[in-house]
Amino acid sequence: MATEADWRAHPLCGPRDTYPDRYWGPDRLDPETWRRFAALLDPAAEIAAIIAALGDATDVVDVGGGTGTLAETIAARVPLIVIEPDPDQRAHLPAQLTVRAGRAEAVPIADGGADAAIATWVLQYTDDPDLAVAELARIARRRVVIVQPAPNNTLVEVYNREAVAAGMLVSHHGYLLARAAADLEAKGFTVTLEHVAIPLRTPPGGAPELADILSRMHTSDPVRRAAMVAATTDFIAACLVHGPLADDGVVLCARRDYSSSV
Ligand SMILES: C[S@@+](CC[C@H](N)C(=O)[O-])C[C@H]1O[C@@H](n2cnc3c(N)ncnc32)[C@H](O)[C@@H]1O
Repeated sequence: MATEADWRAHPLCGPRDTYPDRYWGPDRLDPETWRRFAALLDPAAEIAAIIAALGDATDVVDVGGGTGTLAETIAARVPLIVIEPDPDQRAHLPAQLTVRAGRAEAVPIADGGADAAIATWVLQYTDDPDLAVAELARIARRRVVIVQPAPNNTLVEVYNREAVAAGMLVSHHGYLLARAAADLEAKGFTVTLEHVAIPLRTPPGGAPELADILSRMHTSDPVRRAAMVAATTDFIAACLVHGPLADDGVVLCARRDYSSSV
């Protein structure tokens, strides 16, 4: 069984030189901006990787299901419940989905009440990601799937430039992945990590529009937002010279034989 220190050395838990000694969050999520941003993403490879990670799961709880893009595709294959704390996000979920209000830190599902639990791009919005991972392991009998940004994710680089410009703490998603992997292994799961490519369509307004969208996902304070946009527009423009940006992720797949774990 690998420890958190072992997982830190995994290439998908990088970068190693900026590994923080504590959680920087929670990040802020503005539902309207999130929907604007999500419309630019192509999640096909991510959805395929999550479905593969779920394997033969007989039912799924999707914690922090957001706008329901992933949930809708998975729900077409297997019964699924979305747990979502934000009323605005819940109001935009497809009508056919089963939805409950709730938070990752206290998921309103019984112990072992689901065959599988997923949380995609959610841990950084929780008050306590360790507790959120423990909750996923508590409710899931056989599989837990977590998605977080990959070390090569350009948007994390933008986010961290915004954070520096606004005097906020920088993020590090390998920190969340390494801790989640170690905790899930300690609870009897076998954990694997996989890189997944998620292309991001450039909006019509190019770098300035992207810088504006990303800053709105980081803060509601207009002064901070102006500092963020000033700090990131040229960087985004320089990246776009090489092609569209990508919001690549890491899919953490945790599996266990439930009969031997309880
Ligand atoms: C970036 S979105 C991801 C949505 C979806 N999982 C996806 O991959 O498309 C993050 C979601 O987490 C939700 N969220 C924020 N805080 C949360 C918490 N403490 N527990 C569970 N979900 C939370 C947000 O409301 C939002 O719907």
